[in-house]
Amino acid sequence: MRKPVIAGNWKMHMTCSMAKAYIDSFLPLLRDDLIDRTIVLAPPFTALSTMSELIAGVSLELSSQNVHWEKKGAFTAEISPEMLLEHHVKYAIVGHSEPRKYFSESDEQINKRALSAQQNGLIPIVCVGETDQQREMGEAERVIRRQVEQGLEGILTSQLVVAYEPIWAIGTGKTCEAEEANRICSLIRKWVDFEDLIIQYGGSVKPDNIDQLMSMSDIDGVLVGGASLDPKSFARIANYQEI
Ligand code: PGA
Repeated sequence: MRKPVIAGNWKMHMTCSMAKAYIDSFLPLLRDDLIDRTIVLAPPFTALSTMSELIAGVSLELSSQNVHWEKKGAFTAEISPEMLLEHHVKYAIVGHSEPRKYFSESDEQINKRALSAQQNGLIPIVCVGETDQQREMGEAERVIRRQVEQGLEGILTSQLVVAYEPIWAIGTGKTCEAEEANRICSLIRKWVDFEDLIIQYGGSVKPDNIDQLMSMSDIDGVLVGGASLDPKSFARIANYQEI
């Protein structure tokens, strides 16, 4: 049985006071029978402490947007697993297309981050996905397979979430067709060779496409950017009902 994971990635948005206002409006909008799914929010580092206090006793989990592979040291701008665990963080997003693109993160670095997350009791959410150019050239599967094989080397598949995020669908309003997203997710499951692997889809997920996406056989959740910034939209996404 795969329990869906619905995650909101706030990226570089939200101060602590904005996070408080968000949680105040978000929690009352959640249905109270959501035990069949896990709901996760990934605020910026500066809001983790506030968020962990705000959601104490609520069935909502926290994710970080990164994690380093060393326990401590001279790594300016990085964050260690221990720093995250202090704030009850449970998941760590690694390999998102933005650090891949803007900071040239390699599959090797992403693998080190994911391994470090697991070794310290965090569940990595490892993002993979192709650019529009790679898709047009018929290279999507090869690119994703390489990201999966290199990014997940040595990773324990039972403590893992993989997010399939076609880069051309992120922040563009262009969602990947549910059937195509499902096809890629089923390929990822085959390559990883673990039937119970949790695989999310990400890329312009919204209240009006969530129900269809979640009805797909191999989509076990979503990683949401823009639409997770509005408590009403993200609550609708978290309250999804398969169609
Ligand atoms: P989006 O972002 O929902 O705004 O397309 C998704 C993501 O970056 O994970």
